[in-house]
Amino acid sequence: MKIGIACDHGGYTIKDIVKEAVTRCGHEITDFGADSTESVDYPDYAAKALAFLSQGLCDRIVLICGTGIGMSICANRVSGIRGTLCHDAYTARMSRQHNDSNCLVLGGRVTGPAVADDIVEVWLKTPFEGGRHQERLNKIDKLMRNN
Ligand code: RB5
Repeated sequence: MKIGIACDHGGYTIKDIVKEAVTRCGHEITDFGADSTESVDYPDYAAKALAFLSQGLCDRIVLICGTGIGMSICANRVSGIRGTLCHDAYTARMSRQHNDSNCLVLGGRVTGPAVADDIVEVWLKTPFEGGRHQERLNKIDKLMRNN
């Protein structure tokens, strides 16, 4: 798969770990910054990766900020994006099996590097179960439409 990634200064600390996990699992990565721990605004970086995914230029994206909350808010404003803030392998697995996550969100200040590595691998390898979960996702599109 082609995977986009973006972070702010709060997420930069685990970005390289995430990129290494993605390439180790055999996927291609496109990095939209940020490139240091210098303070930046997370929506600026979220927007770049989200546009890339929305335009069909990659298969999934990873967004990282300090807590993962700001990036989650950004992701779930965009039609067709299912942003899932994951804290461990269990939430990562469920985000794929039940929610068909196409945007993994991590918090660089709340998730350590080894756990982040684990989350990314599980998120990349776990398929969506479909069935009743697809019907629920269809309901989100139908009931939570804002345009
Ligand atoms: C930056 O200080 C911090 O607010 C940001 O990384 C993120 O946690 C926002 O939700």
